[in-house]
Amino acid sequence: MATAATTTRLRYEAIKPKIGARVLNTKEELLSGELSEDILALMEERGVLVFPEIDFADHEQVKFSNSLGGNADELAGQNQDSVFKVTLDEKAQHANVVEYLKGSLFWHIDGTMNPIPIRASMLTAKVLAPEGGDTEFANTATSYADLSDEQKAEIEGLRVVHSLWCSAFYHTPEPSAEQLADWQSKGEAEIPLVVTNSTGKKSLVLGNTAHYIRGLDMKDSQRLLHGLRAFATSEPYVYKHVWKLGDTVMWDNRTSLHRATPYDPYCGRMMHRTIIKGGEAWDQ
Ligand code: OGA
Ligand code: MN
Repeated sequence: MATAATTTRLRYEAIKPKIGARVLNTKEELLSGELSEDILALMEERGVLVFPEIDFADHEQVKFSNSLGGNADELAGQNQDSVFKVTLDEKAQHANVVEYLKGSLFWHIDGTMNPIPIRASMLTAKVLAPEGGDTEFANTATSYADLSDEQKAEIEGLRVVHSLWCSAFYHTPEPSAEQLADWQSKGEAEIPLVVTNSTGKKSLVLGNTAHYIRGLDMKDSQRLLHGLRAFATSEPYVYKHVWKLGDTVMWDNRTSLHRATPYDPYCGRMMHRTIIKGGEAWDQ
């Protein structure tokens, strides 16, 4: 006797025309692994996926990440089987990691200085900030697509130097000489301003690590980088996630700028992060 094949389908609704989707499947359906390809395809299309109040335990979040391509190594000796604690509270995280996470309050892309950026990141809300602490995402593929032909021609082929030490000035504008030397020892990388992935989709690589455009006068370089960032983070391209406890949000790290809105560093806000391997090199 033939048994009917059961196929789990991805159920979702778009959030805004140019960014975001809410995935409506149950936790069991997500953890079954049957939806992995569809989830990655939807993330590629929408940039950011919200899993409302899905309430992943840490091992479930790791399992889900693994089903999408693997939980990559995190900072500070975390291993592939655990979540990484995103908090600004030095009682709950190493001081040097907190220092680095202060940059998350400004528009950025994770890992611009790595030759191969991570494919995606995922945050689960464990403790909410009583005020602020939302997370905003901007889709840099849809904003690139909306540039005029002249603007696209103007930025074609430009290359940008990204550095950690540039991004650190956003939160610590008056470092000591030692602190600056330490930041500068963390490296920089030169990558294209417009990147193309293997499907041919183009997107802008901007944010607080984008220091200057190679070969341009500093003023022109800053005007262009900040002008593009302001456009890319304007209303049509931005989704602001106001967290509920147990929400998980996942974003395409190649095509999403993101930032946390300000919150009290000692309020206890806690996000658990996993990251997904499988990114393509910035420079193709
Ligand atoms: C991150 C990040 C933003 C937030 O984890 O990479 O930028 O809202 N987090 O905590
Ligand atoms: Mn980040």
